Amino acid sequence: MNRLLYIGGSPRKERSRSAMVADRLLTRLKERYPELSVERLDVFDIDLPAFDQDAVAGRYHLLAGNAVDPEQADAWRDLKKWTDQFLSFDSYLIATPMWNFGIPYRLKQYIDILTQPGLTFRNDSDGNVEGLAQGRRAIIVAASAMPFGSLPEIDGLDFQLAYLKAWLGFIGVTDIGAVRVAGTFGPDDVVAAAMAQAFTDADRLANTM
Ligand SMILES: Cc1cc2nc3c(=O)[nH]c(=O)nc-3n(C[C@H](O)[C@H](O)[C@H](O)COP(=O)(O)O)c2cc1C
Repeated sequence: MNRLLYIGGSPRKERSRSAMVADRLLTRLKERYPELSVERLDVFDIDLPAFDQDAVAGRYHLLAGNAVDPEQADAWRDLKKWTDQFLSFDSYLIATPMWNFGIPYRLKQYIDILTQPGLTFRNDSDGNVEGLAQGRRAIIVAASAMPFGSLPEIDGLDFQLAYLKAWLGFIGVTDIGAVRVAGTFGPDDVVAAAMAQAFTDADRLANTM
C-alpha cells in the first residue's frame, strides 16, 4: 500500500460521521505505513464532468468494439483524466453516507465517470467482462442512520455497501475491507455506542491491511 485515494462522499465536512471513522482508520494506516501517500477527493467539492449524451454515445461505441467518434473525443478525453487519476493509486478509502438506501448522487456521478470500457474494465462481444483495476485494495466506510449490518430484516435494503462492493468487484478490485457506521440516529447513548463500535472496527481493520 503506497498511494491511497481517499474518496469522501459526504457534504457534511467536520460533522460527517463516515469521515470521522475514515479519518481514524487513516491515522492507524499511517502508523502502519509511514510512507503512505494520501490524496483526498471530496466529491461534493470538485467539478465533475457531466456524464451526458456525448460521453454515453462514446461508451456505446467502445462497448461495441468501435472507436469513439470525433465529436465525442473531447468528452472522452475529459473522462480519461479521471480514470487515469483513479488508476494511479494502489488503494482506495471510500467514506460515504447512505442516502435513500444507496449512495449520494455525487459519488454515483464519480463512479459513472470512472466506469468505462477500455479504461477500468474490458468486455468482449460475448459479454465477458474483466476489471482493469485488479491488484488494488479498497476500504469502505459506510454510514447510515439505520443499523444496517445488525438487523437482518433491513439488510436487503442496503444498496450502499452492497453496491460499492459490487462496483469495485466489477472493475477488478476484490480485496475489500468494510466498516459500518450504523445506527447514527437515535438517543445519544445509542449513537455513541454505534460510533465507538465503528472506531473499534476501524482500528481492527487497519491492523489487518
Ligand atoms: C438525503 C439523505 C438521505 C438519507 N437516507 C438514508 C437512508 O436511506 N437510510 C439510512 O439509514 N440513513 C439515511 N440517511 C442518514 C445518513 O445516512 C446518516 O445520517 C449518516 O450517518 C450520514 O453520514 P455522514 O455524517 O458521513 O454524512 C440519509 C441522510 C440524508 C441527508
